[in-house]
Amino acid sequence: MDSYHKRTLNTRQLQPQTLMMGYGYDTALSEGAIKAPIFQTSTFVFDKAEDGKEFFAVTYGLKEQDPDNPRGLIYSRINNPNCEILEDRLSVWDAAEKGLVFSSGMAAISNTMMALSRPGDIIVHSAPVYGGTEYLLHKLLPEYGITAKAILPTMTLEEVETVLRQADEEAQGRGGRLSVVHLETPSNPTNTMMDIEGIAKIAHSLQRGEHRPAVSVDNTFLGPVFQHPLNHGADYVLYSLTKYVGGHSDVVGGACLGSAEAIAKVAGLRTIMGTIMDPHTSWMMCRSLETLDIRMRRSAENALAITKMLNDHSKVEKVLSLSNLDPNSEQGRIYAKQCTGAGSTFSFLLKGGEAEAYRFLNALKVVKLAVSLGGTESLASHPASMTHADYSDEAKVKYGVSDNLVRVSIGIEDVEDLIADLEQALDHV
Ligand SMILES: Cc1ncc(COP(=O)(O)O)c(C=O)c1O
Repeated sequence: MDSYHKRTLNTRQLQPQTLMMGYGYDTALSEGAIKAPIFQTSTFVFDKAEDGKEFFAVTYGLKEQDPDNPRGLIYSRINNPNCEILEDRLSVWDAAEKGLVFSSGMAAISNTMMALSRPGDIIVHSAPVYGGTEYLLHKLLPEYGITAKAILPTMTLEEVETVLRQADEEAQGRGGRLSVVHLETPSNPTNTMMDIEGIAKIAHSLQRGEHRPAVSVDNTFLGPVFQHPLNHGADYVLYSLTKYVGGHSDVVGGACLGSAEAIAKVAGLRTIMGTIMDPHTSWMMCRSLETLDIRMRRSAENALAITKMLNDHSKVEKVLSLSNLDPNSEQGRIYAKQCTGAGSTFSFLLKGGEAEAYRFLNALKVVKLAVSLGGTESLASHPASMTHADYSDEAKVKYGVSDNLVRVSIGIEDVEDLIADLEQALDHV
């Protein structure tokens, strides 16, 4: 192994917080520059025509990769050094063998779903999910003969098994398969948890011949610091890197990570759909990864203090924060098994409806009224009329995306300033 891919110091396993400063980058290849330059190039020169032939043959799967002669760089829609460094560093956090970075979280999710599914297939997903994912699964993919069914956080594992088995049988009846079980845990915007280990066991038990349903987890809310889905049996971990990883509300990106075999199934579609991340954004993401751990932990500390304030506030009906889960409840049990922290994005229900929620949002002065999450600055939004506007009224009721629900993403500002702002805005309710 080359020295810049080493993860140990003598017998010591180096931690991700340390590896983010240089892992995957050879300073000797860039005049000793301590930070990787931005490889702002569309194409790469081959030493000789035979190399070009070899690299393309491996890329198109016409030939096995020779481990002693790794495939070189070809073209920035296929690979680029900045993307590869980012993929290597993201893989460190989730103990993944390989990763792919995409131009957005939705590009990562849609490429993965499409790469793993065929006409006739069914995707089972947890609900609620981010509005864009819901749109993909229920509006776009059905046009290609791929349909979706929901499982709910209130279901027991036995009930989940029944839905998965029924989906598998229904798909088989029309010449398809249960292709993917997609979990968004915790969910956007209600912070409900799904049992990755329990559901992965059920999904994997439904293997038929060569085909085994894949389990993907959208880890945007807690990852990669507070939850590691691959350790709990997931095949793919998916990210909107736009959120905590980018962390400054200035870049858009996504990722899909897993075993080398799992990632090979998705890579080809990224090349042909052209959804790879650009070199500049990859460079920005690597810079953000250096401070990821301290940002996520500070935001989570702030969020905990704010949750406590909201829990006792007379204008607030309920706070849907993971830190409020009863350890004796099923949701609390899953949280304790799966997560090491509650993160800093959560929702709360105001006493009232849309009018009260809008009054609160319009009165905020420090916290910004904007969608998205995971940035250094705190944001607040109204999912029912914004990110989840496309949900039917029935779905909103079923999944708890109510008119009095406000979602906040807590940043790293002074926590007392944030509390003062939220309290004065609550006075307007
Ligand atoms: C949980 C979750 N997954 C995926 C996405 C989509 O990510 P992007 O906006 O980077 O495409 C979002 C966006 O808000 C999200 O909240």
